Amino acid sequence: MGKGVRVISVINRKGGCGKSTLVRGLASAAVARGERVTVFDTDSSQGIYGWMKVAVRLGNWSDQAEVIHTYDPAEITARLDAIYAEPPHDHLVLIDTFGGASEALDDVVTQSHLIVAPIRPGRNDYTETMETLVWHERLKGRVSDPGDVPEYRIVVNGITPDPSATEREAIVHILETMPTIEEPILERKAYKQTDGEGLLGAIRDKTRKGIIQNHLTNALEEMNAVLDLLDGAIAGRMEAV
Ligand SMILES: Nc1ncnc2c1ncn2[C@@H]1O[C@H](COP(=O)(O)OP(=O)(O)O)[C@@H](O)[C@H]1O
Ligand SMILES: [Mg+2]
Repeated sequence: MGKGVRVISVINRKGGCGKSTLVRGLASAAVARGERVTVFDTDSSQGIYGWMKVAVRLGNWSDQAEVIHTYDPAEITARLDAIYAEPPHDHLVLIDTFGGASEALDDVVTQSHLIVAPIRPGRNDYTETMETLVWHERLKGRVSDPGDVPEYRIVVNGITPDPSATEREAIVHILETMPTIEEPILERKAYKQTDGEGLLGAIRDKTRKGIIQNHLTNALEEMNAVLDLLDGAIAGRMEAV
């Protein structure tokens, strides 16, 4: 059975924790699976929208994927309605945010199946990520049915091959206190490359150098594993309803 339409909001008040990196990676993984992808870029810096432009110019984009820059929850709703009205198909919808978890995001969030926040251990991300979790708890009090509020997952991002003692401590603390998924995202040059060039699979397929190809493949597989876990969380929730 197909996975259908899944809407994931990437939210963390902390800047630079890897929200847009996660969005680029998940979009790449879904395209590589043959799914359609729609990204709503709600960040005024238009990071993802600009990424798509560059990728198109370099020939590293896919006609399965689309990026829409908007701040307007009503536009997101209208576009989601249009997607749901299509014949059933696998479609990953990602909402990249500027951070600032505030009431302004309520309408966007309640339309998603899952909220995800990357966190970089040992970089003072903890407090702001906690605040984002508190915002998520409070959101349940603001909506008429708390069951409408999607679950929240944390993805540990930027793990280096040889983490410092501080980083290791931070990782343990995150795992003990936050709803973290099992697969971390490593610090990889491939993610910087995606940032400047386009979809992971598209870049990989054009690369002649075997070693770089391997790096890009590893990054794609990592994001594929993360997407599987997020999809698992969404599916588990749907079954419970
Ligand atoms: N896992 C990673 N490996 C390598 N670079 C990363 C990783 N995660 C984030 N970065 C880099 O860190 C910077 C900030 O990440 P970004 O995704 O833009 O954060 P946010 O969208 O949360 O502000 C970018 O330059 C990005 O390329
Ligand atoms: Mg960003």
